[in-house]
Amino acid sequence: MNYPAKVRLIDVGPRDGLQNEKQPVASSDKIALVARLQAAGLREIEVTSYVSPKWVPQMADNHAVMSGIARAADVRYSVLTPNMKGFEAALLDKPDEVVVFGAASEAFSQKNINCSIAESIERFAPVVEAARAAGIAVRGAMSCTVGCPYEGEIAPERVAYLAGLMKGIGVQRVDVADTIGVGTPLKVQRAIAATLQHYDIDHVSGHFHDTYGQALSNTLAALQLGVWNFQSSVAGLGGCPYAKGATGNVATEDVVYLLHGLGIDTGIDLDKLVDAGAYISGVLGRKPQSRVAVAILNKRAG
Ligand code: HMG
Ligand code: MG
Repeated sequence: MNYPAKVRLIDVGPRDGLQNEKQPVASSDKIALVARLQAAGLREIEVTSYVSPKWVPQMADNHAVMSGIARAADVRYSVLTPNMKGFEAALLDKPDEVVVFGAASEAFSQKNINCSIAESIERFAPVVEAARAAGIAVRGAMSCTVGCPYEGEIAPERVAYLAGLMKGIGVQRVDVADTIGVGTPLKVQRAIAATLQHYDIDHVSGHFHDTYGQALSNTLAALQLGVWNFQSSVAGLGGCPYAKGATGNVATEDVVYLLHGLGIDTGIDLDKLVDAGAYISGVLGRKPQSRVAVAILNKRAG
């Protein structure tokens, strides 16, 4: 089996991980989490979202967080921007990359961003244009590429359709997301293959939630297709407020352990990453949702 020699991980913990937390997390804790992630070797961090604070109150401090982080020149800081209002606010905070986020499922598009897939593309198009004109990279998240909480199973054709729309408006790279963590390896491979009709392998990333415990298997299946960009959340934080019951992203610690075991370079220091996960889990008053982190912490304690 030919696996990629190196993998690039985007830690989405500060955004996807924390967006669903009911209790407000202090901006200073979010800023400290970003600092710990970059110290652990993460070179891409999804920091926050510029969305409606009525919809996602936890991300209302986007400006405080983005202006509070100590930025490193070799780290790419990305933020979610669903429309021009979000983009204009984000622009003041100089993100390296903005993320427009659409869905392969009509029902999820409506619940998450209050518009149809076609309308979402109309809203994203000026964001992409303005971002590219400002020299900011653009990524497109594609939700529900294998399953939807409202529509059930999603056909690969729907993923290909969305990927084609994203490509058509100039989105540079896309995330194949299993928003509710229902995917299994062959289904995830089909969603990736559908995306590859429009994007080459270097511009496709995997974003797998771990609700059904399949995310590591799905990561391995994506690696087998040559995917080398993945998103994960430190300590397995998270969930989407518009995908009831869905748990967090696959834990970054677990992905790093898997990759290092396969001899794949990530540039990440697993021990420091475990510290970052223990830190934010402590803030939230719970144990890390990462088997690897728990094992390493137990080993340290013993
Ligand atoms: P809307 O209500 O259709 O927007 O919301 P609107 O244009 O009609 O405006 C309504 C109000 O919202 C107005 O304020 C606007 O100013 C305000 P009012 O006059 O009522 O006071 N507004 C905004 N405020 C701040 N920032 C903005 C913004 N836009 C409008 N950008 C909208 C549309 C997209 C804003 C809304 O539906 C929303 O915020 N949704 C939240 C979506 C979200 O953050 N979901 C979670 C992230 S996606 C995810 O987790 C999936 C992912 O991880 C991949 C995966 O796993 O699948 C990425
Ligand atoms: Mg997600």
